[in-house]
Amino acid sequence: MPAISASAPGKVILFGEHAVVYGQPAIADALLEVEAKAIINPLIQGTPGEIRIQAPSIKLDADLSQLPIDDPLATAVRNVLVELGIKAPPPFKLRVTSTIPVAAGLGSGAAVSVAIIRAVSAFLGQPLKDARVSAIAFEVEKLHHGTPSGIDNTVITYRKPVYFIKGKPPESFPVNESFRLLIADTGILSQTRAVVGEVRAGWEQNKNRYEKIFKSIGEIAEKARELMTSGTGIASYLGTLMDQNQYLLQDLKVSSSELDRLIASAKEAGALGAKLSGAGRGGNIIAVIEEPRRSDIEDALYAAGATGVIATKVFGGSWGPLE
Ligand code: MEV
Repeated sequence: MPAISASAPGKVILFGEHAVVYGQPAIADALLEVEAKAIINPLIQGTPGEIRIQAPSIKLDADLSQLPIDDPLATAVRNVLVELGIKAPPPFKLRVTSTIPVAAGLGSGAAVSVAIIRAVSAFLGQPLKDARVSAIAFEVEKLHHGTPSGIDNTVITYRKPVYFIKGKPPESFPVNESFRLLIADTGILSQTRAVVGEVRAGWEQNKNRYEKIFKSIGEIAEKARELMTSGTGIASYLGTLMDQNQYLLQDLKVSSSELDRLIASAKEAGALGAKLSGAGRGGNIIAVIEEPRRSDIEDALYAAGATGVIATKVFGGSWGPLE
């Protein structure tokens, strides 16, 4: 059997994080500038069922059989074996690498799962369809995040703009016009599970207030989809929607002084609007920008403490259905 590799991109939530956990729509896109990679080599001297997992960035080098039941990488592999009904696969070594910053709101956990699921199923001669890849990655997401909406595994599996409502079939949608984003990292870890848990605690104490906020966020995501589908000259209006979304995220207490500082600096330097992206507290902000202002805004972000900046585009296109 030859070596096999598979990769998966990062993701960026454009509108609707947190509210999406409570049934509101959200919009996300794949972030192709970063990726997770899974490489499989047969273990020539191994015995059937022997699987070695290596992930140098987390200093993991262990046999699958030694890894705990809730280890996310092991769970991705085990769930593929169950899905394919294979008990003793030919021995192999799985090596996982990633350029996606960890705990930064960019989908690193889901991307690692998707890359592993694709590589293992392809190595075993039964590559899984996207819907199954996403469903298995969702099971692993539950280990990472507790009560995930499923948006991360979906957008990372399909690699295109996605309109997502929890529990409903995800949709792609045509994007009329490309627009540019800068993504800037606070360098502070964003612990999705903890932040989602704190929002839940707030919601339990004051359901009325939280549900109003969630609904307003959902309305913004809905407007953004309309605008992205058919608008022209949309960047500045999208920026305004991002600002509105950010105020509501502040109301949910998931922003932080570091995120707010990066957002303010991007806007002062000419960004059309900005918000945190992902679970918040740390991680990344996104800002809608126009190319002529790009280097000024990048400089301003670094001056305000950003530890990394990624320039990307949401590409216009008809995109086609998610299959
Ligand atoms: C995390 O990328 C986005 C959240 O809305 C959680 C989720 O949707 O599972 C914060």
